[in-house]
Amino acid sequence: MLVLGIESSCDETAAAVVLDGREILSSVISSQIEIHKKWGGVVPEIASREHLVKIDPIVDEALEKADVQLKDIEAIAVTQGPGLVGSLLIGVCYAKALAFGLDIPFIGVNHIEGHFFSVELENPPTEYPTMALIVSGGHTNLFYAPERGKYKLVSRTRDDAAGEAFDKVSKMLGLGYPGGPIIEKYAKEGNPKAIKFPIAKISDGRPDFSFSGLKTAVMRYLRENEIESLKENEEPTQEIKDICASFQRTVVVSLIRTMEKQAIEFKPKSLIVAGGVACNQALRDASEKVGKRLNIPVYFPSKHLSTDNAAMIAAAGNFHLENGERSELDMTADVTMRLQNFEVEEAELRRKKVRYRL
Ligand code: KG4
Ligand code: ZN
Repeated sequence: MLVLGIESSCDETAAAVVLDGREILSSVISSQIEIHKKWGGVVPEIASREHLVKIDPIVDEALEKADVQLKDIEAIAVTQGPGLVGSLLIGVCYAKALAFGLDIPFIGVNHIEGHFFSVELENPPTEYPTMALIVSGGHTNLFYAPERGKYKLVSRTRDDAAGEAFDKVSKMLGLGYPGGPIIEKYAKEGNPKAIKFPIAKISDGRPDFSFSGLKTAVMRYLRENEIESLKENEEPTQEIKDICASFQRTVVVSLIRTMEKQAIEFKPKSLIVAGGVACNQALRDASEKVGKRLNIPVYFPSKHLSTDNAAMIAAAGNFHLENGERSELDMTADVTMRLQNFEVEEAELRRKKVRYRL
C-alpha cells in the first residue's frame, strides 16, 4: 500500500511517501527552527501560520521526490495528536480534504506511536515483546508492547520532558535553541563527573521520570557559582562545558537506569530508543550497553527519523490501515491523545498529585 504521511504536530511540516509501511520513497521535512530560534522556543501561533504556508508545497515535493502522482496514493496517514492544536489542525484538515477529494481512506495517527514505528523503517522487524523509550521535546515515556499495536505505559515524566530539559538548560546557559544538539556538542569537551546533579525519586515509588528538579539544580548551581549566561557569539568556558557534560550525564543515567530496571522486570526481546533526544550519542551508547548486558538488540531510528518526520506517521498509519481501521471525516485534532491501550487502569492511578524527592 502506498501511503502519504503528513506530520505537523509541532514545528516541523513534513510529508512522506512510504510503501507497505517499510520502504521510504520520499521524506521531506521543513523545520521552523530558524523562525522560532529568536524566541528561545516554539511560538504556537507562528508555528500554525507557517504550517499553513508550507504544507501544500511540502506534499508536492514529497510526491515529486517519490516519483509518484496523487492518483497513485492509496491512503493518507496524518498526525492527530498529541501536539499544538493550531499546528495539528493544519495537517488534519489538509489530510481530510485531500482524502475526500481523492476518495481514498485516511487515518489519524498518535504522534508517539509514530516515533515507536520510526525504527521499523530502517531496522529488522522488531522482536516482540519490546520496550520503547520515547524521548523528545514533548514526551518522555517508557512503553512495554507485548505485541504490535499494544502499549502499556510503564514510566512517564511527571513534569518536563527530557528534550525540554535540554532546551531549558541551554537557554539558561545562553547556548541557543534547540538545546539538545548544542549541549551535546559542548558536553563532548566537558567533564561529565565535574558536578553531581541530583536524580529525582518519585515519592509514590512509581518508576517515573522527573526533570524539573534537575533544571532547578542547574539554575541554583549557576547562581551559587555566579556563572552568567553567554552573550551572543561568546565561546563557552570550560566551566560551562563541564555543566553541559554533567547535566547530559544525569539525564542519560536517569533514563537508562529506569529503562534497564524495567527491562529486567518485563523481559522484552528487544529495546527501542526513539524521539528527538535519541539523536544524542551518549544516550545511544548507554542504551547499547543495556542491550549488551541484557543480551537483546537495541533499535534506534537514524537521525533523520529521530526528530519529527512524516515517514514514521505513514509507517504507523500503514499498520492501522492494514488492520482495517479508518478515520471518519468528523475526526479532529486531539491535543491530549494517549497511547496506552493495555492495562490502562494502572496508568490512570498515576495521575494523582505527587511529591518529589531530590
Ligand atoms: O522528536 P522531536 O523532533 O520533537 C518532539 O516531538 O518534541 O524532538 C525535539 C527535541 C528537542 O527538545 C531537542 O532539544 C531534542 O529533541 N534533541 C536532542 C538532541 N537532538 C535533538 N536532545 C539531546 N541530544 C541531542 N543530540
Ligand atoms: Zn516528536
